[in-house]
Amino acid sequence: MFLLNTTADYRLSLDPRDEKALGIVAAEEVERYLAFRDEHVVTPLVALPGLAREIGVGAIHVKDEGHRLGLGSFKALGGAYAVIRLVLEQAQQKLGRAIDMAELHSPDVRAVAQGMTVACATDGNHGRSVAQGAQLTGARAAIFVHSGVSNERVSAIARFGAEMIRVEGTYNESVREAARIAEAKGWIIVSDTSWPGYERIPGLVMQGYTALVREALRQMPEPPTHVFIQSGVGGVAAAVAGHLAIALGDRRPVFTVVDPARAACLFETARAGRPVAIAHGEPTVMAMLECYEPSLVAWRILSRAADAFMTVDEGDAIEIMNRLARPISGDPAIVAGESGGVGLAAAIKAAADPAIKTALSIDQRSRIFVVNTEGATDPGKYEEITGLLPAVVAAKIQEGALI
Ligand SMILES: Cc1ncc(COP(=O)(O)O)c(C=O)c1O
Repeated sequence: MFLLNTTADYRLSLDPRDEKALGIVAAEEVERYLAFRDEHVVTPLVALPGLAREIGVGAIHVKDEGHRLGLGSFKALGGAYAVIRLVLEQAQQKLGRAIDMAELHSPDVRAVAQGMTVACATDGNHGRSVAQGAQLTGARAAIFVHSGVSNERVSAIARFGAEMIRVEGTYNESVREAARIAEAKGWIIVSDTSWPGYERIPGLVMQGYTALVREALRQMPEPPTHVFIQSGVGGVAAAVAGHLAIALGDRRPVFTVVDPARAACLFETARAGRPVAIAHGEPTVMAMLECYEPSLVAWRILSRAADAFMTVDEGDAIEIMNRLARPISGDPAIVAGESGGVGLAAAIKAAADPAIKTALSIDQRSRIFVVNTEGATDPGKYEEITGLLPAVVAAKIQEGALI
């Protein structure tokens, strides 16, 4: 399914709150914070010239977030950053003086963090990031997971010392349960989705994601003409679209938001012209994108800065994992988890469909930018789908060999 943005807010300037949260100054601050992180390295930008030739475009660049901060997904940028910011803010209040990131590990700040509990609901990746931020600062973390989250993903979060709480039902039900219990216990909810009256912390989470856009703009020979970003609640799509709109103004690329057909909450929201919750259907293999209600802040940005919305099918997600593991024509391999390559799957679909290609003005000069939002965050699932061990693909990438 494909839809151009025809909502009333389309092409309006961003809301001043979002301009500030996703603007250049905020993004520079995120990168300054990152520089203090031991695990921080700029993630690779991978060119796929062979695939670009095959689908008839000028260039394809993939920002590979499978390498981010040792967590395997771009979510590492958001939750942990928000936790650090909240700890520093609380330290500032308690200690009565300005506190810089450089003081994060000082005994005074650590003592404040030890009195804090951060909580969130997660499909897997966001919780890993919040738990890592808590461990880094010395705060406690309570992470809520719904019944569809694999045991492998739960263990990956528990490894950071977080208390894990299983909740019956879907992701959206786990979001509500986390908020309810956190309220009762005085914990701080660090959610990657927002709802009426709860916007500031999800705004910080999204602000953290801007780092990947800044890095990519520096790594690319020229800014992209087309961007395809996959969405769960829409946070990363909104952060990328919002920051590109601010950084590039009129030269901003044509931006398409991509949902799984089985969990198309942004697509249906765009169709309705207002945020809508959709019915829970069959689960999707794109586990991290299985969200049934958009983030309100994300929608406020995307309704203005996204040009189109489209869906991909289950088979597309599986095919792209395999294509990236066994690339064509001399392209390097990329390890992409079930939700990682979905933006690229949509780009390939768009280029192959004459109506979508025309609607988005894709031609042989187009420079497409996508994000591999996760590596093999569930290695068992990766092997099941591709028939390859993630470590084997990664070793071949290191050697520069094709599989
Ligand atoms: C790997 C991956 N890709 C994409 C997304 C979608 O991000 P958002 O929920 O901000 O739209 C997620 C969310 O958890 C994710 O983990």
